[in-house]
Amino acid sequence: MEKNISVGLLGLGTVGSGVIQLIENHQEELVHQLGCGVNVKSVLVRNLEKARQVQVDPTYLTTNPEDVLNDPEIDVIIEVMGGIEDTRKHILNAFEEKKHVVTANKDLMAVHGPELQNAASKHGCDLFYEASVAGGIPILRGLADGLVSDRIQKVMGIVNGTTNYILTKMDDEGVSYEDALKEAQELGFAEADPTADVEGLDAARKMAILARLAFSTSVDLDDVEVSGISNLALEDLQYGRKLGLTMKLIGFADFQDNQVEVSVQPTFLSQEHPLSAVKNEYNAVYVNGEAVGETMFYGPGAGSLPTATAVMSDVVAVIKNKLLGVNGKRFVTPRFEKVLKTPDQRFGQYYFRLHVQDQVGAFTMISSLFNNLNISFERILQAPIKQGKQNGLAEVIVVTHETTLDRCHQVLEKLKNVEVVKELKSYYRIEGAVEQ
Ligand code: NAP
Ligand code: HSE
Repeated sequence: MEKNISVGLLGLGTVGSGVIQLIENHQEELVHQLGCGVNVKSVLVRNLEKARQVQVDPTYLTTNPEDVLNDPEIDVIIEVMGGIEDTRKHILNAFEEKKHVVTANKDLMAVHGPELQNAASKHGCDLFYEASVAGGIPILRGLADGLVSDRIQKVMGIVNGTTNYILTKMDDEGVSYEDALKEAQELGFAEADPTADVEGLDAARKMAILARLAFSTSVDLDDVEVSGISNLALEDLQYGRKLGLTMKLIGFADFQDNQVEVSVQPTFLSQEHPLSAVKNEYNAVYVNGEAVGETMFYGPGAGSLPTATAVMSDVVAVIKNKLLGVNGKRFVTPRFEKVLKTPDQRFGQYYFRLHVQDQVGAFTMISSLFNNLNISFERILQAPIKQGKQNGLAEVIVVTHETTLDRCHQVLEKLKNVEVVKELKSYYRIEGAVEQ
């Protein structure tokens, strides 16, 4: 049998504890796969006195990163401490020391992924980051290996568990946004500060990582158009239901004619769309490839053991590469120069909710505005406004056929100048057919 491989951990929180548990409890599986064991040699933490979720020999714990990064017996660094700047430096130091790195850090990989990949490659090291997107779902390996011969055209993801939990509770049980967020925090899905979850930034980081890998182009975090769910109204979810639509925070990445678009936004999905059935904190990534057609990867997007499973899949990949002598040999240069789609190249259906003066001719004015921009209606419905009826207002929902984002922006501008339109309450993108 080969000599055991020693790993060092940066971090021993939720994910780090799961990694220790897997290494201890699944050692036989690792030995069977690798022909050698894996042992933890050293662990960086902030606080040596803190009670831990797993038992670790106290002599392994350190608050000095160099004890882990410079230990000549350690082959693989597992970065599960989070943060960006310190972590980036630690990882670059690890490569200088010819150590391979496995990370779960989406914040870091979204911002510095290409730089770190190049540094790894330069030093003949591996850098793997399966756990950074969608926790326990092996989506990165699915794209990089399983679908490697295909041309991926579209990736749509529910990649944030907190927002999916909130939307499920609001939609299925009529729970308020605030109460649903509080529950998600109590259950531990949300980040310590949940702003990045609810404002879509966490999902945007994951979509930047996914889009780079799926389309082999250098998407930056700034290229991802982001809006979150913090201003969503229950009324929109209720109207959506009437139209056979379910609201989800969707990461959308599309690649056509070598041009890319990536966004994260609350989106209405047709109830036939496979992503509409993904509930609570679960994640799913829907991938459309030219050859494979539609596929969907589903599972837990966070949590100690699911995320540790993804981390350990990377550790096993590094060790297998080491046994074969092929570390650092992955192609890291993007194949396509990045060209972002312009708004007139981005297509979608839209839902608008308007408060309109309830008077003869109001519908005609609104429809001629849409007609003049060549946007046709798929559905239009009017509902009374409970407390506003006495003000002579009605609520109008317009669902368009497919149009461009550019035309959608023009309609939004023009609606401001239509006298009968008192307020644009909301507008959302729609994916999939609307029920007739
Ligand atoms: P966590 O529970 O907060 O644990 C962080 C660990 O890192 C703690 O052990 C902490 O030490 C240590 N640490 C943090 N900053 C440090 C510093 N400057 N110096 C030394 N030690 C430091 O975090 P987590 O939930 O395990 O997440 C870890 C990473 O995995 C993050 O990048 C996160 O985005 C990613 N991730 C998490 C999940 C999940 O379900 N939690 C899922 C996917 C990806 P102390 O314990 O002493 O404070
Ligand atoms: N806060 C994140 C989520 C954790 O809700 O999905 C996993 O990245």
